[in-house]
Amino acid sequence: MNIDPNDIDRKEAYNLFTSVIVPRPIAWVTTLNDDGSTNAAPFSFFMGVTSYPPRLAFSVSSRRGAPKDTAKNIMRTEEFVVNLVTKSNVEAMFITSGDYEYGIDELRQAKLSTGESEKISAPYIKESPVNMECKLEKIVEIGEPTNYMIIGEVILFHIDEAIYSEGVVDPHKLQSVGRMGNPLYSNVNDIFKMERP
Ligand SMILES: Cc1cc2nc3c(=O)[nH]c(=O)nc-3n(C[C@H](O)[C@H](O)[C@H](O)COP(=O)(O)O)c2cc1C
Repeated sequence: MNIDPNDIDRKEAYNLFTSVIVPRPIAWVTTLNDDGSTNAAPFSFFMGVTSYPPRLAFSVSSRRGAPKDTAKNIMRTEEFVVNLVTKSNVEAMFITSGDYEYGIDELRQAKLSTGESEKISAPYIKESPVNMECKLEKIVEIGEPTNYMIIGEVILFHIDEAIYSEGVVDPHKLQSVGRMGNPLYSNVNDIFKMERP
């Protein structure tokens, strides 16, 4: 069958598209609110952009005609941390995705703790084994209502030594969680190898 996106409404397009690009890694982003409290929220429209220097991007939609708190904070501070979502913190991640009022610390709602970043002011989530301190590179505004594609450079990786060996993170130990079409998620438990002869 063929589906022309012009023939379906916004919600149907969202449901279809998010069931097609799967599984998606989840950027669990921490930023600083203007009162100094921490904001946290997950974003699965997330990708690597370049590897050297490492740059990543995630896309934040508008809510009630305005940028969501994460985008608002990044526009002001030009920095953020991307924390990874894994089997052990996925329920907490879900709690932080709630539509909380600006200034409410989602990490407190989810009983999570923060560590002080080294190069930026936004803290990282201690319960996540990989945290990437990022500096904003650019924001691409696209669509109507506006989506904010946030592109940042990773300026410091925090990696739990228990999952790291010889320059890489062991995917068996990381236990990354992916987002599928709502409300589905996936664990990574069938990893295989392919090598050129
Ligand atoms: C797993 C998951 C992935 C999400 N991905 C996105 C996304 O890519 N873009 C987006 O705008 N919202 C996404 N959301 C919704 C936001 O997390 C949610 O709107 C949140 O309240 C935004 O918080 P903020 O206002 O503190 O930035 C996602 C939610 C979940 C649970």
